[in-house]
Amino acid sequence: MARNCHSERSGPIFLPFAKRMSVRAVEESQLIVNSAVERSTRACGLRKPTIVIRSASRKSLNLPRGLCYFIYFLAQATMPKAKIFITHPLYPEAQTLLQSVCDCEFWSKQDRPPKEEFLRRIKDKEGLVCLLTERVGDDTLRAAPKLRIVSNVAVGYDNVDVPACTRRGVLVTNTPGVLDETTADFAWALMLAVARRVVEADQYVRAGNWQGWNFDQYCGTDVWGKTLGIVGFGRIGQAVAHRAQGFGMKIIYNSRKRIAEDIEKQLSAEYRDMNALLAESDFISLHVPLNGDTRGLFDAPKFFRMKPTAFLINTSRGPVVDEAALVHALESKKIAGAGLDVFEQEPFIHPGLKRPNVVLAPHLGSASTETRGRMANTAAQNIAAFFQGQRPPNPLNPELLKP
Ligand code: DGY
Repeated sequence: MARNCHSERSGPIFLPFAKRMSVRAVEESQLIVNSAVERSTRACGLRKPTIVIRSASRKSLNLPRGLCYFIYFLAQATMPKAKIFITHPLYPEAQTLLQSVCDCEFWSKQDRPPKEEFLRRIKDKEGLVCLLTERVGDDTLRAAPKLRIVSNVAVGYDNVDVPACTRRGVLVTNTPGVLDETTADFAWALMLAVARRVVEADQYVRAGNWQGWNFDQYCGTDVWGKTLGIVGFGRIGQAVAHRAQGFGMKIIYNSRKRIAEDIEKQLSAEYRDMNALLAESDFISLHVPLNGDTRGLFDAPKFFRMKPTAFLINTSRGPVVDEAALVHALESKKIAGAGLDVFEQEPFIHPGLKRPNVVLAPHLGSASTETRGRMANTAAQNIAAFFQGQRPPNPLNPELLKP
């Protein structure tokens, strides 16, 4: 059951004002306070708060309604804010929003907070804004008994044990929708880079080895006109497909369920079962979330079914690919190469992946300044809405918000 977001802080702060007001004014204010808070808590499906105004002077001052509102907002402004921990400074806009609503403690170092420190910091916090590098599981929740919301600054949320949070009434939110195009761009960057040997060529030129144009230098593989197999056809997968149309590619996809026919038509995308997709694709791009069904999805049998000329692109989550099997597939030339942004145990890179036909990136899919700004703002909006008694835009366990 979600803990309500107002009661503990509202009552006592309002009392000093209440004491100087008439019974009628107090009753009226109480009505206003209660109905305003009730409306907002009902909107976000939280338990009804209890705002108690205990005493009042007997002399009626007949305070006008406007003044009651003023007192209510003043009381709200002077309420102690919810304490939250933010594991990264994020950007100024998000900081400003968070600070306007919450009592914020930011982790300002670039290095991730060590586990011990993290647990110590969240001990007295009601809210947590975290990156995908922070694991939020039972141990975190035990260490933070006051925690009511975890706002993950990522669309993927495999770092958060959502069922454990739900059991303890802790709301979890993420940042969907704001990073699709940027991540799709990056999947394409990897695809073009590995197919056209951009990184190899760059290193060659930088090293001062280039003696002049040569007919056979760094010949790669065409991307245009080839078949692109997209595994996971949600927003990011579809954004990748959209770009593929411009490259005149044949687009095939596999996903849990087939998408609506009109979207298939719009994207010229055809559904394939997994084996058909593996056999047909020249490039396979992964866009599934990491969960029990997708962990190790790309394993040795899958690589065996791919074309020896095909490339694997992964901008989803590392553990979707069995890295040992991928290294074996590369070594035995079962596939032609890979473009990888994510890894099984980040930041560890399997030594077998450090090969010329593999382009490696340090989990940069959404890493544009604009998109990281949007992600930070979305995460801040989720927190702000929650502590203002409104429904956060991106709940992952919305059942906690139901009345
Ligand atoms: C996400 O949001 O899940 C990405 O992996 C990081 O931006």
